Amino acid sequence: MSFKRLRGTHDTWGEEALLFHKIESIAREVFSRFGFEELKTPILEEKELFTRALGTETDVVQKEMYEFIDRSKTAVAMRPEGTAGVVRAYIENNFDKTMGLAKFFYMGPMFRSERPQAGRLRQFHQIGVEQLGTDNALADAETIQALTVFLDEAGAGGYQVKLNNLGTFEERSGFKEKLKEYFTPQLKSLCEDCQNRLAKNPFRILDCKVETCRQIVRKAPSIREFLTPESLEHHTKVCKALDAAGIAYKEDPYMVRGLDYYTKTVFEISHSKLGAQDALAAGGRYDRLIESFGGTPAGAVGFAVGVERLAMCVDAGTMPALTQPGFFMVTLGEKAFEEGFRIVSDLRKNGVKALMDFSAKSMKSQMRAADKSKAGYAIILGDDEIVQKEFTLKNLSSGEQSKKPLGDIITICKSIGKGEWGC
Ligand code: HAM
Repeated sequence: MSFKRLRGTHDTWGEEALLFHKIESIAREVFSRFGFEELKTPILEEKELFTRALGTETDVVQKEMYEFIDRSKTAVAMRPEGTAGVVRAYIENNFDKTMGLAKFFYMGPMFRSERPQAGRLRQFHQIGVEQLGTDNALADAETIQALTVFLDEAGAGGYQVKLNNLGTFEERSGFKEKLKEYFTPQLKSLCEDCQNRLAKNPFRILDCKVETCRQIVRKAPSIREFLTPESLEHHTKVCKALDAAGIAYKEDPYMVRGLDYYTKTVFEISHSKLGAQDALAAGGRYDRLIESFGGTPAGAVGFAVGVERLAMCVDAGTMPALTQPGFFMVTLGEKAFEEGFRIVSDLRKNGVKALMDFSAKSMKSQMRAADKSKAGYAIILGDDEIVQKEFTLKNLSSGEQSKKPLGDIITICKSIGKGEWGC
């Protein structure tokens, strides 16, 4: 009997695993520069946490959640996104009282039972940030800036930022009625999905990718007509702060999001290197979510980046080397093997990457293994050299080699590592 991975899931190893690791360390470094701290929340949460946060009529809740009744008869779900869990943790751990403004980043797997295609997985990874306890428009701009600095430093330039303001829930309910009025006479020209959306969630029609729907949307009323002076002022402040930070963006008054918790600012980042699924990251403000989970009313804003999509946009060549090439120990003779094994352990304890072929075959086969490992240098050690207290150091890219004193081997390898690979 053989097993295959489930559709829409992925095994990650080698260069790709290293790339993910690098992306995560850049995220940790950039977000801590902006004052965000890491928060890890569970993958499993009560199902209702997500249905309440994301909205019962959203695709994620209706069709995509991995949900089940566990052994204690609790309805649970594997998180489809990170925001709901962060808000639960913020309230449950009293961060509203102990921290005031709480700024978190998170990273980890998310689960959505979507139809798999390029860039769309059933288990995927997000890196996100959330700021809870603020309704300041500058926090929106700061959040977007944290995202763009992260993308730039990860080497994913060439993205576009789209910005909109969806207003408050109250402002949106007037808009919803107006949209229904506009779309109803054109019902038959809409695609089947949009015909269903009209009654429950007419905003999603604005987001439809089908060309006939897009044509109808072009003349649809805009949310801007329904925004109060307060929401308009918020939007202006966000735009001004983005201008001041030198962040290029495009306003898109028809942009909506697939999750219902958003209020006021929403944004999306797309990238030309992605195909049909061109959303690299998305986020916005969700000023009513904390209150709807029983917390003291407070505003919040955040985003999430899809890590698999980001890896498709990153130019790995512009990233610093993901690991140090290190040294490969090649030994000839029994004594040399024992000494070589000891030196390899010492190098590793001293922060230097060192590899060895334990099957200790011929020198030729060890040199082949050294090349295959992509090590920077081979350390060649024979029984005779041990007597003479020497070793041979061979640069595997230039082919140059020279004898060195064995007593200094750790110091020599460490200094080469520091000089050449910055380790
Ligand atoms: P979202 O737009 O649902 O927002 O997802 C954010 C990003 O996750 C997307 O732009 C995409 O890169 C990635 N993503 C989503 N679904 C998949 C999938 N099936 N396969 C691969 N990548 C995917 C959220 O999740 C919100 N929680 C963002 C947020 C944080 N809003 C406020 N704070």
